[in-house]
Amino acid sequence: MQRQLYNLALSILALAAVLASPAQGQLKATDADGHPWWQQTVFYELYPRSFADSNNDGIGDVNGITAKLDYLKDLGVDAIWITPCFPSPQVDFGYDVSDYENIEPMYGSLQDFDRLLAAANKRGIRILLDFVANHTSNQHKWFQDSRSSRTSAHRDWYIWRDGKVPGQPPNNWTSTFGTPAWTFDPTTQQYYYHYFYPEQPDLNWRNPAVEAAMFDVTRFWYKRGVAGFRLDAVDSLFEDPNLTDNPFSAGMDTFDRPNMDEKYNQKLPEVHGVLRGLRKVADEYNAVLIGETYTSSIDELKHYYGDHSSELQLPMDMMFATVDRLSPAEFRKQIGSVNASGQWPVFLIGNHDMARSYNRYGDGIHDDAIAKLMAALYLTLRGSPILYYGEEIGMQNNDPKSREDVRDPQGKIGWPTEKGRDGERTPMQWTSDVNGGFSGSKPWLPVPSSASTHNVETESADPSSILNFYKRLLFLRHHEKALLEGEYIPLDESNPYVLSFLRRYQGEAVLVALNMSGTDRTVAFDPAPYGLTATKRVVLLTSGRTAIPSRDSTIKLQPFSAYIEKLTP
Ligand code: NOJ
Repeated sequence: MQRQLYNLALSILALAAVLASPAQGQLKATDADGHPWWQQTVFYELYPRSFADSNNDGIGDVNGITAKLDYLKDLGVDAIWITPCFPSPQVDFGYDVSDYENIEPMYGSLQDFDRLLAAANKRGIRILLDFVANHTSNQHKWFQDSRSSRTSAHRDWYIWRDGKVPGQPPNNWTSTFGTPAWTFDPTTQQYYYHYFYPEQPDLNWRNPAVEAAMFDVTRFWYKRGVAGFRLDAVDSLFEDPNLTDNPFSAGMDTFDRPNMDEKYNQKLPEVHGVLRGLRKVADEYNAVLIGETYTSSIDELKHYYGDHSSELQLPMDMMFATVDRLSPAEFRKQIGSVNASGQWPVFLIGNHDMARSYNRYGDGIHDDAIAKLMAALYLTLRGSPILYYGEEIGMQNNDPKSREDVRDPQGKIGWPTEKGRDGERTPMQWTSDVNGGFSGSKPWLPVPSSASTHNVETESADPSSILNFYKRLLFLRHHEKALLEGEYIPLDESNPYVLSFLRRYQGEAVLVALNMSGTDRTVAFDPAPYGLTATKRVVLLTSGRTAIPSRDSTIKLQPFSAYIEKLTP
């Protein structure tokens, strides 16, 4: 009963928050305490092909997104990152851009996009786009000109070289997508370089004209009202000008090729100069830059923030995103080190390039409980979280069943070891109707059968659903100062089953305890050593039937359950 009343109260408060959202043009650069907007923001990544289909052609579109803004607002989302929605032959589903300053006709028009911006702004939601800086589509007019002759105006906008000897590529580099990295172009009898598919030729960022044109692309969108970019594949922007062969490393990759140490074509120091330049432009518009930053250490991640915060405000912590098992020790290590770095962390547990978190962390039996547990982890940490669409309803991965069904070329090249990324990009599940209510016609990718239970409509009506758990969590995140700004203090650090921590803000704190095991666990928490004296303890949110702390301060946690309480003087 107490819980139901609590839920009801939260729903009323959430409604009040929607009604009280800022009117158009009132998006604030900082909050009352001077924190930049992006530190207070819950980001939501959506894949436009799969989010909402307004014209029933089986593919999502811009008007579909506009129609779902109230859903996003109600969920507690403050900003949306839309993966590439620019004109594209769709070889890599938008990551092969043929025009940076327009909208893919299949998704709508620039006018539709402007309407989306205005409607989002009205609700206090910001829009971010994806900046595909490393490469264009081979259909982009720059590349068309570049390949037309060795003396064309855009020849040096891409990376062209003679073969080592006739019939052999310039060096041993390979594409990360399972093909060679060099393609011979008969017209001019030279090879061009592409770190991704042959249809995605790499831009030559050593050419100042490329830099100027690409910086202007960001200005074009900032002027329209876009609040920032997620920067795609930043590590790949530069290559060794001498094209030195890469050394091989132990083992084979998923395409059955010897692993390569990409010393000469990844993470070259010149990348940081470009990031500083992009940041200068972003600062003119109070915009944010999120980085697709795959790193193997916190020191490496720190570089992307730049000296004196001169590069990315939000480089993603992919080490946290890929822990891939319910390991308190592993999470503690990752969270502890990013916090110790003094930077503002970016936490996520899934995206359009990795199997859905529901499957990566789920054990096949307690998947819903584990989905809530993971939400309670990354949405209560100090930092900016990025939700991947569908995570909030427990969407499952739906890998293709046969090679013929695969849409992502990577899956075709690597089948069956590498099935590609279709599984995590399936249509958003809105209702229990056929195709998850996504479209009136056959969607471009099939929805899994779990859509009949895991969808927005069904879960909205169920107080114990994953969706309602997300809503409550995000509500708390927006309203508890300790969750927004409090320092992170790890607790009980040798516990192999329960991950617990405090978020302490001035005299108060929020305590989070997460049972990552399949057995009941009891943890004790004494607030006194943390300067929290004469404390009043109130349960804010639990998943499972977790008991309120007893007199002796012990908390009983059901398997895979989350517990969140507030401590005030
Ligand atoms: C990273 C993106 O997330 C991925 O989806 C894309 O295929 C590559 N970059 C190439 O742009």
